[in-house]
Amino acid sequence: MARILLGVSGGIAAYKACEVCRLLVKAGHDVVPLVTPGAERFVTAETFRALARRPPAEDIYLHLTRADLLLVAPCTANTLAKLAHGLADNVLTEAALAHRGPALVAPAMNPRMWSHPATRANAETLRSRGITLVGPDEGETAEGELGVGRMAEPEDIVAAAEDLLAGTGPLRGKSVLISAGGTQEPIDAVRFVGNRSSGRMGVALAAEARRRGARVTLLGANLAVEAPLGVELVKTPTASELETEALARGVEADVVIMAAAVADYRPAEALATKRPKDRSGWTVQLEPTTDVLATLGERRVPGQILVGFAADQGERGLERAREKLTGKKVDLFVFNDVGRTDIGFESTDNEVTLLDGSGERTIAKAPKDEIAAAILDQVERLLG
Ligand code: CTP
Repeated sequence: MARILLGVSGGIAAYKACEVCRLLVKAGHDVVPLVTPGAERFVTAETFRALARRPPAEDIYLHLTRADLLLVAPCTANTLAKLAHGLADNVLTEAALAHRGPALVAPAMNPRMWSHPATRANAETLRSRGITLVGPDEGETAEGELGVGRMAEPEDIVAAAEDLLAGTGPLRGKSVLISAGGTQEPIDAVRFVGNRSSGRMGVALAAEARRRGARVTLLGANLAVEAPLGVELVKTPTASELETEALARGVEADVVIMAAAVADYRPAEALATKRPKDRSGWTVQLEPTTDVLATLGERRVPGQILVGFAADQGERGLERAREKLTGKKVDLFVFNDVGRTDIGFESTDNEVTLLDGSGERTIAKAPKDEIAAAILDQVERLLG
């Protein structure tokens, strides 16, 4: 979680900044909106405070708030010029002068204003100071002109913000492959054999790894929750698709975390059409799938960290996880007790035991994003 100063200047794209604010808050960031008087002609500061869940009365030194990132979206031609020349005539431009650290600017203006040499020079000045620009995009502007000038899409702005924040994270430069969710193995055109995994734990791990600066690929098996922004999502609904992608992409990953509940068995034959109901029974022959984790363990490249999950029950289950640790050539096993109803599957909480070569440690019941942080702390230790 980072503190982000969200500067909103006075252009029609200010309404899209509401979505930027919402996405940042949703990603867990502490957003401090800095709305210029010009922007208030389009959207009120009240709207942003509500979205950022901040109290109505802010202190008079708001522009001096220390933050991890300054994001200006939209940045009008006027505000861009002020930023380039160091003017400080409103809460946003004052904050820009006081801010130390990464800054991201999303210009939004008429295409003729964007292409004017004065604006080009101002944009270049900002870039030369190490400020990142996202957009503007090409397309139709609000006034109906075509060209480059539209503000970048909120998702792209938030992804760029996450990239900047991640640039200083402990996992920067590392590539992390994470599987999440539960595979579904077709019996016929509409039915499948599946499991109760929602993908929350794997998605929390992907978000946390991204936050720590890693390049993250998420193999999503029927996720019930959205993939985090800034993460590459590859859909792998069946065990066979997950196997293909994991083995192909696993070679290049510094860390592989198999959080998905991969089916151990699949129907030996899947009917191409829906089987109509009749009076007789239906026996489905199941065949074993490939153990992806074990195969990754066999093929691992030196230095790679391999993490497996062990979904099992009680003390005996924990014992089996200990056996798997050596049997599968895995560095770290995350054991969670699927016999308990207050954690795991559909729950937002989890409680796990981490098992590796150095011993065992139980992480007390906590929200899945905190559990994800504890798992990645351990991965970082293993990476050395
Ligand atoms: N896994 C896998 N490929 C499979 C099945 C499971 O890679 N076909 C991975 C899971 O992603 C998880 C780990 O193996 O990281 C453990 O899965 P689990 O079902 O708990 O244990 P199994 O190894 O399948 O052993 P068992 O079912 O006998 O307990």
